[in-house]
Amino acid sequence: MAELALSAVSAVSAALALVGEVSSFLDREANHQKDVRDDVQKIRYWLSTVQAYLKHMEGKESDDILKDHVREVRDLAYDIEDVLDEFRVRVPIKFHRHRISKYAEEVIHYFKHWNALREMSSEVQRIKRRMDVIITLDSLIRSISLEEGSSSDARVELRHVTPKEDDMVGFEEHKETLINLLVGDSRSAGLKHIWVVGIGGSGKTILVKNVYESMKVLKEYDCHAWIHVSRSCKINEVLRSMLKQLCKVRKQSDLLELDEGEVRDKLESDLQRRRYLLVLDNVWREDDWKSIVQALPHGSGGSKIIVTSPKHNLAKSCVGSSDNYILKIKGLEWTKAWNLFCKKAFPSNGGLCPEELEEWSQKIVNKCEGLPLAIAAVGSLLSNKRQIPIEWKKLHDSLGFEIDSDSSLAIIGSIWLPSYKDLSNNLKNCFLYFSIFPEDYSIARERLIRLWIAEGFIKEITGGKTLEDVAEDYLNELIGRNLVVVSKWDFDGQVRFCRVQNLIREFIISKSKAENFVKVLAAESDSSSSTDYKIRRLSIHHSKTRWSDMSGLRRVRSLFIFEWDDSLHSGILTLLDNLKLVRSLDLEGAPLTEFPEEIVELTLLRYLSLRGTPVATVPKSIKKLAYLETLDLKHTCVTKLPFEIYALKFLRHLLVYHYNFKNYVAFDSVQGVEVPAGVGSLTAIQKLSLINATKHKKLLEELEVLVDLRKLGLIGLKREDGRALCASIKKMPKLSTLDVRSSHKEEYIELDNMKDNHPINLQRLYLKGRLHKIPGWISSLHSLVRIGLKWSRLETSPLEALQVLPNLMELEMVDAYTGETLEFKAETFKELKFLHLEKIDRLNTVIVEAKAMPKLEKLTICKCEKMEMLPLYISNLTKLQELLVYDMHNNFINRLQKNSDFRYMIEHIPVIHSFTLERNQYWSLQKIS
Ligand SMILES: *[C@@H]1O[C@H](CO)[C@@H](O)[C@H](O)[C@H]1NC(C)=O
Ligand SMILES: *[C@@H]1O[C@H](CO)[C@@H](O)[C@H](O)[C@H]1NC(C)=O
Repeated sequence: MAELALSAVSAVSAALALVGEVSSFLDREANHQKDVRDDVQKIRYWLSTVQAYLKHMEGKESDDILKDHVREVRDLAYDIEDVLDEFRVRVPIKFHRHRISKYAEEVIHYFKHWNALREMSSEVQRIKRRMDVIITLDSLIRSISLEEGSSSDARVELRHVTPKEDDMVGFEEHKETLINLLVGDSRSAGLKHIWVVGIGGSGKTILVKNVYESMKVLKEYDCHAWIHVSRSCKINEVLRSMLKQLCKVRKQSDLLELDEGEVRDKLESDLQRRRYLLVLDNVWREDDWKSIVQALPHGSGGSKIIVTSPKHNLAKSCVGSSDNYILKIKGLEWTKAWNLFCKKAFPSNGGLCPEELEEWSQKIVNKCEGLPLAIAAVGSLLSNKRQIPIEWKKLHDSLGFEIDSDSSLAIIGSIWLPSYKDLSNNLKNCFLYFSIFPEDYSIARERLIRLWIAEGFIKEITGGKTLEDVAEDYLNELIGRNLVVVSKWDFDGQVRFCRVQNLIREFIISKSKAENFVKVLAAESDSSSSTDYKIRRLSIHHSKTRWSDMSGLRRVRSLFIFEWDDSLHSGILTLLDNLKLVRSLDLEGAPLTEFPEEIVELTLLRYLSLRGTPVATVPKSIKKLAYLETLDLKHTCVTKLPFEIYALKFLRHLLVYHYNFKNYVAFDSVQGVEVPAGVGSLTAIQKLSLINATKHKKLLEELEVLVDLRKLGLIGLKREDGRALCASIKKMPKLSTLDVRSSHKEEYIELDNMKDNHPINLQRLYLKGRLHKIPGWISSLHSLVRIGLKWSRLETSPLEALQVLPNLMELEMVDAYTGETLEFKAETFKELKFLHLEKIDRLNTVIVEAKAMPKLEKLTICKCEKMEMLPLYISNLTKLQELLVYDMHNNFINRLQKNSDFRYMIEHIPVIHSFTLERNQYWSLQKIS
């Protein structure tokens, strides 16, 4: 019941939103069509009643009749949505609020509408008849006491996500064993394999990750890599990913030029002389393991491969020599399970269980069968509940209550179910959304958020928050509940990539099937079936799957394609041709050389990503996509946008740029996009990057009306443009990222004209081009966490101006200063974690005074050719974890060597690496010994 109810509730509310839109259109434009208007009003009334009814039935015991009932309601709601969307497809432009229509167009539209209206009207009649058969309003109303309670969706509140939680309760021994295997081991020994096996949810990955990330371990190895080996992995991609991580290849694009043989050769030659640590996470098949291991040389003494696997037998058959090791992870024993649970459930009570809750807590822990993942999830769920026995009992009773028929999912399902049920409907949808992505797929936070919004999962709330802010709260909520994990953090503690763990993925896939949430074609054998006509979302993971019955596509609202080959490429246009009502189209990485004309016929699109495709132009007909909110053309070859782009009044995110560089970042390694005059008409825009301002001068003035901008990227600025830019920026109170590049390397950026109203919410600032001085207002940016200065060639040290920034975490300087000394004054840069110095040509001395940069974790120095001395008092940077140097003077590198007199200054730094650029443009690691 809970399952059907969610899809029914979602379908009904989606339909309801559309009815609202269509009926206000009818009021405005087709006033005289009284019959149609009345009918639509009736549908609206019916839908709201059904909505109240579903809310009322939520969580009620199920019986089969009711289930059928709810399914019928859902399907009818789908049909209503389809009819209304078909109507919108036919008269799209009139939904444009801002259009100034001319008389002639009015007349044409009138006749177009007329037909569309007539058709809709007859569909509506049919729907009305079905409504009456399914449920009569009277009987519905009788069964509900139409209680207007607080909506469950209103209860999402912001919870802080804490990076890197220590989830190692109960694993101390395993951890110690592993660390002992990895450090201090005889260096002369050959390559060693360590297998860590345990069933899904036993916590083996968390254990290995924790050990892998510890500096104590990392410092023992020259290089290291973490590879997910999903069940659908491609060996070729795995090898590339290994090469990228192990050999520090800077950009994916460099790798694309290598064929598989070259990748293998490079791995072989690079690793031969190194001590490496490799984790192969979640290996299922012996063949995968074999072909990966075959590509690896033994490395220099003591290299290690850790393999995690759910399959104990596999470990036994793969581990040959006695030198190798198998670590078995069982469920936690009682006390450890108990401690973990208490830590999660009673954080405010210091991890102690109140006496009155003890009985139920123990029963709950028993049901989790020692699985740390499950214990943590249930514990976090309970930490949000009222701490009274009855709540605890309720949860206990629901554990294992609704067991899925698939027995392997039985325990798992029963454990996640309470956490799942506890989510509001919108959060449930957001959570189920992860079932769209392939196994082990990490999705970028911002992409996820934009997709959620396009799906309509995010509801506007009062209080000045944008949909993007609300969506971010949702994501944090899912992370806080241990349902979604962060796979990559940003330097400032923001989530960059996230995913669901495999076990949870299994669970949501089963839910997603029951909910008719998404149809996934994941294997060659998968294909569409005749019952698929109801599918709303389609996700293709395997390029060989075939869509045999195209008619089902007509109703698809979201389409994702994760894997391409040439045959799918030719099929894609047919596929697009069959879509009509689609709202989200994610074709990232597709081998499309031209912007397909078929796309502009998809007039209901809200989200379009052609990121990473070779597409080079955007047609004028883009204006037909009047509802578009996101247009993602990053890493495409597009360098110009047509004037018609300004017809997209709802556009919130416009991302167009690409990089092309080899190893050293050159000034012209980024390409922006030219836009015609009129950018001021994109009034809803929040992210706009990178706009090439070279050609038209009014651009910077036009920007001033874009008051909702969060991110602005500009390229091609001249010195005299600074004044207008400052005047515009002043009017953007929400601006958080500003990226400004001058027209060429020697051109000055002048942003001094910002006396008052400077953008106080700015968090990230990048200035690329010459500077006379650091603009004074920058010193007052209290929210600034990252600043990048490139090619500024300042004559006085920029540190004077920057040292007063209280929250600066990352400072990057490339050719930013022409002086010889950089002095980090005592007690400044208190929050700085990352410092990057590159190509500061005359720099010979870096001084770190007492208590400067007390939190510095990573220091990179690159191509500062005059620098022969280590930074003075670097030994006082006690938090420093990594010192990386690239192409530095030999004398500098010699001072890093273990036998050097200066070595004591850096002895405390766990990881020290030096790289030089080879002739073939790859960084190669120099041995420090
Ligand atoms: C900006 O546009 C000009 C032509 O108007 C072009 O020459 C230049 O390469 C473009 N710059 C970038 C970085 O896109
Ligand atoms: C370095 O740290 C030591 C011990 O905390 C302190 O006495 C000394 O003054 C510091 N030196 C500098 C220049 O930071």
